[in-house]
Amino acid sequence: MEISLYKTVPDLQEEKIIANTMERIAEINAVVDKDNIPMGFEVDEEGVWHIQENRNKSPTKKWICSPLWVTTHTRDHKNENHGRVLEFKDTDGHKHEWTMPAELLAGEGMKILGTLLNLGLRISPQKQAREKLLEYITNCNPIRRARCVLQCGWYNNVFVLPSATIGNIRGEKIILQNPSALESKNDMLGSLKDWKERVAKMASGNSRLILAVSAGFTGPILRLLHHENIGIHFKGKSSLGKSTALHAANSVWGNPVNVHTFRATANGLEGIASLHNDRLLCIDELGQISALEAGHVIYMLGNGVGKGRATQYGLAKKQSTWRLVFLSTGELSLSQLMEEVGYRVKAGQEVRLIEIPADTGISGLFENLHGFKGGADFAAYLKDASFQFYGAPARAFLKLLIENIEESSAIVKALMKDFRQKYLPKTSSPQVIRVFDHFALIAATGELATRFGVTGWAEEEALHGVMKCFQSWLDNRGDLGMQEEKEAISQVRSFFELHGESRFTPWERGPEDRIRTINRMGYRRETNEGPEFYVFTDSFRKEVCKGLDYRSVEKICIKKGFLIPDRKGSPTRGERLPEMKKNKRCYRFSADVLIGTTEGNLNNDIEVL
Ligand SMILES: Nc1ncnc2c1ncn2[C@@H]1O[C@H](COP(=O)(O)OP(=O)(O)O)[C@@H](O)[C@H]1O
Ligand SMILES: [Mg+2]
Repeated sequence: MEISLYKTVPDLQEEKIIANTMERIAEINAVVDKDNIPMGFEVDEEGVWHIQENRNKSPTKKWICSPLWVTTHTRDHKNENHGRVLEFKDTDGHKHEWTMPAELLAGEGMKILGTLLNLGLRISPQKQAREKLLEYITNCNPIRRARCVLQCGWYNNVFVLPSATIGNIRGEKIILQNPSALESKNDMLGSLKDWKERVAKMASGNSRLILAVSAGFTGPILRLLHHENIGIHFKGKSSLGKSTALHAANSVWGNPVNVHTFRATANGLEGIASLHNDRLLCIDELGQISALEAGHVIYMLGNGVGKGRATQYGLAKKQSTWRLVFLSTGELSLSQLMEEVGYRVKAGQEVRLIEIPADTGISGLFENLHGFKGGADFAAYLKDASFQFYGAPARAFLKLLIENIEESSAIVKALMKDFRQKYLPKTSSPQVIRVFDHFALIAATGELATRFGVTGWAEEEALHGVMKCFQSWLDNRGDLGMQEEKEAISQVRSFFELHGESRFTPWERGPEDRIRTINRMGYRRETNEGPEFYVFTDSFRKEVCKGLDYRSVEKICIKKGFLIPDRKGSPTRGERLPEMKKNKRCYRFSADVLIGTTEGNLNNDIEVL
């Protein structure tokens, strides 16, 4: 769908379809109840009734459901994807408006009944009454028209949210018609002032939080600047504050239900991504799903394209595309997850999935605890605040953005240019430049939000926080953080200490040690310096590196001089192992892995273990 953003005049053709003046609406409202009711049905305060005409007898009335109105007919900009807006009150008297895709009327209509029941409509349990309900919905013919959009985000010059459309709607009413939209209808709680005071203020002095919250505002800017999708992955072990950072970012837009933990399948993800189009999508604990699923998820998000599938009836093939910023967390790296399912990580994808060590080395993910005793207390406060105050910042930001759209784009572009001159290292590779541009866009958006008065941060605070994260990305590219490096070494070393005897077959076996090695993972060869270990590749990756990114562990072990690479520098080597007729690739660890060494120790602050 091509959307022109700069079109400020409403589509005249659309205006012709319906003169959406106040009088007209009032007129429609006046007639909708009576004229809209199909033959054979009646609606009163008790509900919808089916009238059965009986020959020679007075007609009988059968109750179908509590009062339900079909108020509006919807269709998209191509006059496809028709739907109906259903209005009713639940048993507690709360008003509901559901935009039902008309295609749900095909078949048995179970999904319609299920959704209506779920939203609190009372429906007669009789089978015949349920059929009549579908007939009623089908035959209602509302005069009122609205355009539906299937995704959130920009539509011409307005921005569609699950519960509202921001911008000046002078043409037809625009409604989101998305099956996943119901859950996120309640997407605003608390005022902007509260959010600034309780959430945004806590981000001050915390580079990762500044980045996360600024990235929260960046979704709508992507399309304005024709910028590609951006993914940021906070990588690190548990209890650092990663999920808290995601919740803080998500509070820019809405309800905590939108922080998804990806147990959902990749198919569910397409719907979710459409809902977060032009916005922010948060995925917590990416590693919880299988590598296969995670790989697909990352691939789809990075490229902004769903798998595309035929509709239920084999008609047009729908392909979802979306543009968004996504934030994720996990203990493993994204590229590792992708490679495990056989995707080669292309340079283009790698730069779209920026990995940042979650641990700042100060208080986990945080650097400034704003007077709280510890990281845990601070995290608890911030998470709680993000659950209580949300949604207002995005609305305020969008309103100002739409009112000043040309100027805002120009500001963001100018800031990016300025940041590039000041902060981009002169000798950067093309990849680094592209990643820098993502950071620069996020920083510029953060600054724009500050100028709009939405964040309450000082000028350049967004810039400094985001650039600190860029530096951290640059320093840790492909490596683990300092703390994690120590942990990795300690894990590898204790593995050999524990299992070096029992799980490695002696290289030269005398007749006295013909005992089988249980759960063998390689060979042990005695040398003058001590035992060397030849470790099978799978055993190393799955067991020795359990819970760690094995590629990073390989790098560290080579750097430390424990792991002896082959002549080309590859971490595995072809070795003729005892009793084998051919060379087999394996890892060769020197005896240093047990005794520790200062040689090759590039980091002085790692004590000699
Ligand atoms: N920076 C921190 N320092 C100490 N404990 C923390 C920190 N961040 C979080 N925690 C603890 O971990 C719990 C989970 O926080 P969460 O943000 O979900 O961390 P993560 O996603 O990194 O595992 C918190 O309730 C808190 O007890
Ligand atoms: Mg977590």
